Amino acid sequence: MSVVKILCCLLLTYHLNDGKKIKGNKAVDSKQREVLRLKESYVSSSIFRMFLEGEDNCKLDPRQLHTLTSCGFNSSNPLIIITHGWSLDGMMESWVLRLATTLKTNLIDINVVITDWLSLAHQNYPTAAQSTRTVGKDITHLLHSLQVHYQYPVRKVHLIGYSLGAHISGFAGSYLDGSEKIGRITGLDPAGPLFEGMSPTDRLSPDDAEFVDAIHTFTQEHLGLSVGIKQAVAHYDFYPNGGDFQPGCDLHSIYEHISQYGLLGFEQTVKCAHERSVHLFMDSVMNKDKQSMAYRCSDKSAFEKGICLDCRKNRCNTLGYNIRKVRSGTSKRLYLNTRSQMPYKLYHYQFRIKFVNQMEGIEPSLTISLTGTKEESGDLPITVTENILANKTYTFLITLDRDLGDLMLLKLHWEGSALWKNMWNRVQNFIPWGGREGNPLLTVGSISVKAGETQERTSFCAMTNDGQHLEVSQDKVFVRCKEDTPKQHRRKHNKRLALVP
Ligand SMILES: *[C@@H]1O[C@H](CO)[C@@H](O)[C@H](O)[C@H]1NC(C)=O
Ligand SMILES: *[C@@H]1O[C@H](CO)[C@@H](O)[C@H](O)[C@H]1NC(C)=O
Repeated sequence: MSVVKILCCLLLTYHLNDGKKIKGNKAVDSKQREVLRLKESYVSSSIFRMFLEGEDNCKLDPRQLHTLTSCGFNSSNPLIIITHGWSLDGMMESWVLRLATTLKTNLIDINVVITDWLSLAHQNYPTAAQSTRTVGKDITHLLHSLQVHYQYPVRKVHLIGYSLGAHISGFAGSYLDGSEKIGRITGLDPAGPLFEGMSPTDRLSPDDAEFVDAIHTFTQEHLGLSVGIKQAVAHYDFYPNGGDFQPGCDLHSIYEHISQYGLLGFEQTVKCAHERSVHLFMDSVMNKDKQSMAYRCSDKSAFEKGICLDCRKNRCNTLGYNIRKVRSGTSKRLYLNTRSQMPYKLYHYQFRIKFVNQMEGIEPSLTISLTGTKEESGDLPITVTENILANKTYTFLITLDRDLGDLMLLKLHWEGSALWKNMWNRVQNFIPWGGREGNPLLTVGSISVKAGETQERTSFCAMTNDGQHLEVSQDKVFVRCKEDTPKQHRRKHNKRLALVP
């Protein structure tokens, strides 16, 4: 984690030195808009490049942005503008061209423009952060030119900004006058330092476009700062794997990164979690059959308990390009788990179990395995970190990299340990319930699994009369309850355990 610390310290140092100047001045904004409109000779400090096929690009003349058509701009098609973030080395990061290529090859009838503000981005962090308003204005100016010269509606524009680029995109939206708003802004791990906790006018916010979405991937805090912004800034804010850090980005991956990228591997590790937001977005464009679903939840720990796999009332949505653009007054925080590499999609399952009897002083470790019509899950450990209470329902989140299909069978195994058995032998004399031959019993009241992706809940029933009784070190197989056929799977989990004859 020390690499992360270095980056955060770097940011912190800058923050303490001269981080105070970033605050915007709203009073000036409307005047600036006027100027922006009237000034024929607006000089853009950013360079815009029209992205063409095969990694070719065409630089737009900053004084004559209507030269867009000579660069292949087609006004009947939507426009995506990609904006990068802070630059340590003054070089365009490789993801920019990869994202542009991905969009161009998968979406076909689309204009892709890249904002190049490297000269301003290659400064210390607070200076670069201060320039975000300037670059935002440059984009607004470009959009104005499109309106004037092609009657091009801004609602056909989608701004995609990474890190500081996310706030730039927000400013571009807020400087736009008239009633029409930019169609969509996607913030890819919007930058945290100097923006966290700021008023909505001083950062990316839902007001900046018709629809705003954000993917938060590196919000892990160090000394009160995080590289990515923690607060919700969009209509839908996605927090993959909790949003703080990403799988496959651990420090031990540095060796892999160094072998892959040479000395740059060090930087790759630092950027890994931050840049994951970009790759998750690309994944959503490339892998159409593997769209990642995310679920509204109060926080990471609630999500990890598996209680948030509900899709009613727009509580779930698709991460990335194909998001359902449902607007609402408040920001929605959505959670999901992902794989460590593309395709990132994981299937989320909620496992619910209720025991009829109580078990004190014991935290049983259980393993389940699921068999569906398509796949088997293999053994999945379930950790109960509290005493088992009678008739209390316990919920767990299980994630799998494959779809099991309709669930048919569930195997439950109670891991025994020598220590545990020994303890059992001592306590069984005065505990009023118990099993045979000195083995304790847990009696399953009900057991069910809900698949988040299909919203289908499957209840499981014991196969024999004493099938609900679970003994240590023994497998118990439960089958899909008889009335729970694949076609009618609504709210069966409240039913009492029915035995299959
Ligand atoms: C612009 O794109 C449309 C498809 O959206 C296509 O039919 C048309 O031919 C294109 N125009 C030019 C000039 O390439
Ligand atoms: C658990 O529920 C069952 C069935 O509803 C009931 O008979 C039993 O008394 C309950 N046990 C406790 C400890 O509440």
